[in-house]
Amino acid sequence: MGRAVCRRLVADGWAVGVFDIDADATAATVTELCELGGQASGYPGDLTDREFVAGAARDITEQFEAPTALVTLAGAVRNAVLSKITDEDFSLVLDTHLRSTLLCLQIFAPAMKKAGHGKVVTTSSVAARGTVAGISYGAAKGGIEALTRSAAIELAPFGVTVNCVAPGVVATGMFLNTPRRVPGRAARLDPDEASGRTGRDRRLCELPDVAGIVVRDRADADRVRRLVGRSAQIGFY
Ligand SMILES: NC(=O)c1ccc[n+]([C@@H]2O[C@H](COP(=O)([O-])OP(=O)(O)OC[C@H]3O[C@@H](n4cnc5c(N)ncnc54)[C@H](O)[C@@H]3O)[C@@H](O)[C@H]2O)c1
Repeated sequence: MGRAVCRRLVADGWAVGVFDIDADATAATVTELCELGGQASGYPGDLTDREFVAGAARDITEQFEAPTALVTLAGAVRNAVLSKITDEDFSLVLDTHLRSTLLCLQIFAPAMKKAGHGKVVTTSSVAARGTVAGISYGAAKGGIEALTRSAAIELAPFGVTVNCVAPGVVATGMFLNTPRRVPGRAARLDPDEASGRTGRDRRLCELPDVAGIVVRDRADADRVRRLVGRSAQIGFY
């Protein structure tokens, strides 16, 4: 999903800093964005590591300028029911989603406040409302929505908007790599069936739609400026 958002940002003329703990994925995204004629640089590393994020932010500022937009999408899934979720898995999921969102906001928001404008989009999920075995993921996404609202209130006076997207199922890494434990669900949501967008497969969200909601159209800018701390929901389970 992050790559689709980057593609859309580059198409809109943004220079993009790409972050991912997976160095190969980071490099592949940067290569693709440059081939599309965009300006991009890669920052492979752990977004739960404050020093790494702060160092990368300094590099971006030197190479381009202080960023005035931030989209947070890092994620990991360790699905388990209440009685089975381990401390380690719960912490990993909370850290990857929620703490990385907090760190990025803390590190990138000050320059936006100084500039007097900025746009932050965080990523929740419809799973924040509760799913089977979604204890850690749902908690992390619910936390992101709450964090987004408070950050939006705090940053609005400085011209910085903070909003959240909450997609339904998108046929990307997180969905494709999650084992389906609910009978019938694998067949219902098989991404190979998504191309026709009819019948059962129409529940999948399309990547360009998600990227479009994250980035918004320029024509939509006035409306977006008025949105503060809202969740835009895309698709359904
Ligand atoms: N795919 C879906 O159905 C769906 C639905 C709703 C919300 N989302 C959310 O959208 C976002 C992107 O999901 P996706 O489907 O593209 O999954 P994905 O697995 O392809 O993307 C998540 C990325 O986060 C990276 N990552 C994990 N831990 C990291 C860390 N500590 N530091 C830096 N990078 C790290 C992974 O390497 C991966 O590239 C996630 O926040 C996810 O929860 C996905």
